[in-house]
Amino acid sequence: MIDVDIDGTKEFMSDIELEQSVLNAKKAFQKLKEGAGPGSEWLGWRRILKAPNDAELDKIEQHGAEIRKNADIFIVCGIGGSYQGARAIIDALQKPFSESKPEIYFAGHHLGARYHEELIDYISRPKEDGSRKSVYLNVISKSGSTLETAIAFRMIRKWMHEVYGDEAKSRIIATTGAEGGILNKIIEEEAYSKYVIPDDVGGRFSVMTPVGLLPVAVSGLDIKTLFYGAVAEFESREKEAGNILDYAAVRHHLHEKNIKLDVISSFEPELKEFCNWTQQLLGESEGKEGKGLFPAVASYSTDLHSIGQMIQQGRRNIMETMITVEKPVSDLKLTPSESKTDGLDYLAGKSLHYINKSAQDGTFQAHLEGGVPVVKIGLGKLNEQQLGRLIYFYELLTGIYVYMLNVNPFNQPGVENYKKAMYKLLGK
Ligand code: PA5
Repeated sequence: MIDVDIDGTKEFMSDIELEQSVLNAKKAFQKLKEGAGPGSEWLGWRRILKAPNDAELDKIEQHGAEIRKNADIFIVCGIGGSYQGARAIIDALQKPFSESKPEIYFAGHHLGARYHEELIDYISRPKEDGSRKSVYLNVISKSGSTLETAIAFRMIRKWMHEVYGDEAKSRIIATTGAEGGILNKIIEEEAYSKYVIPDDVGGRFSVMTPVGLLPVAVSGLDIKTLFYGAVAEFESREKEAGNILDYAAVRHHLHEKNIKLDVISSFEPELKEFCNWTQQLLGESEGKEGKGLFPAVASYSTDLHSIGQMIQQGRRNIMETMITVEKPVSDLKLTPSESKTDGLDYLAGKSLHYINKSAQDGTFQAHLEGGVPVVKIGLGKLNEQQLGRLIYFYELLTGIYVYMLNVNPFNQPGVENYKKAMYKLLGK
């Protein structure tokens, strides 16, 4: 199970307050299990782990391997829950400087003109040997009508049809809802291959469906281990919810005590995008009816040299969640230096992981002393299995804690407001 350490919150709540809040968390979990809370038609993220669809996993794995073999470039076109999960997993687990094929790029996650123009320019340029790049495109949109995604999709698919002719049809893969929506009409017209996002799985909870799994399979990571990591976390939490209730309880108690922000941080730079994924998951789920902890993100130790100051000594309305990793992926050590002039010899022979962990422990201590309650969420190692566990852990945490706020975690009515105003300005 994912580890939860709430020692860093003890001085901010009494044992009785914790006990009471854990009881409320238990009730919220029960509500979720029974499908008795608001938005219960959106609990498919639990259903798909209860009864895994191995045939679909096989299909995605094979399709991913085939694209991987044939593609120089794989573009994932989607926004919000339709791209953040895949990006988080790939960033966390793929080697940062590997030259492995295919290169993976994201599109349609904003309306930046330069980015999209240069992306098309880049894929248009021939390879060093003069041959044409082999590009595949996965458009992902549950509604099939999100503007950012639709615009990028229109531009990239036009390019693909011009360059590849009829072959473009086998290079474009669409992931969308079972029926309805403009994207489904396009799929029918063009006969693109299609993956279905189940009706009962909302965008930000869809990472364990083809939405997240196909791009991850294309990156060469092991989607079955990832998926079954999530299944393992699901099964153990069904038997015994355990410490996830403490985390939900602490978050809720601090929310009621007027804490306004949860800074979700990690000393593993590989987890920066994962923190962004939790930000989206929590933010769109809990920020309603004037409630919620604003989920901020910090990547340490980089951000200790920027918002670290704010966390340490700014307004005292912050809590922090630190995601930690026990075992290092790399054993890189600092070697002794002959000249000794850089003054670092007291660290000679020490691993970077040890130094990073000391920075983490020191920050934990300093933030506590600065009046910031800190929860630690611990992973054994950064790999597919553990990340799968962590993904389900955060989905479940979101469900339980947001039910404690008496809010529907699974809708996002406020997002419509910017769309309405934007469409009006655009004359739609
Ligand atoms: O969590 C959500 O539902 C949202 O973040 C959506 O994923 C996002 O708005 C994209 O929507 P769609 O997949 O319909 O294009």
